[in-house]
Amino acid sequence: MAVERTLSIVKPDGVRTNVIGEVFKRFESAGLQIVAARMTSLTKAQAQAFYAVHRERPFFDSLTTFMSSGPIVASVLEGEDAINRNRELMGATNPAEAAPGTIRKEYASSVEQNIVHGSDAPETAREEIGFFFSHADLVQGVRT
Ligand code: CDP
Ligand code: MG
Repeated sequence: MAVERTLSIVKPDGVRTNVIGEVFKRFESAGLQIVAARMTSLTKAQAQAFYAVHRERPFFDSLTTFMSSGPIVASVLEGEDAINRNRELMGATNPAEAAPGTIRKEYASSVEQNIVHGSDAPETAREEIGFFFSHADLVQGVRT
């Protein structure tokens, strides 16, 4: 199994409801290492660029308004099979359909306000990491 990096975001609802630590704790407990992290916020235009793949979807305007509604915490997770393992920790997009014990099942309030983002494939992970972090931001060689 390959060591991968994936982009995670604690969305504005996760920051507002004080679950940044709970989310990070789950990543670390699962053996995913946080190799970069920063709190930031997105303008509407930046949120539209980040979610450009969804621009034709009916939820696009509401989603990008939500994603630009307050601070977020972007991080890069590293580990074996990190992309899929993060998606498993997150749970299904709709919290009503998410498995018990997943982040979205525990903390999300709606299909839109679902606490976390996670990259879905190696190519999107590379692109999304580059959206928030430069090469120099990524911690090198600290894996134990
Ligand atoms: O985040 P994930 O990859 O699980 O889902 P997505 O299908 O890539 O959708 C991106 C985001 O759009 C979701 O995380 C939700 O915040 C939002 N969304 C929504 O508001 N309504 C939907 N029916 C589907 C997604
Ligand atoms: Mg997605």
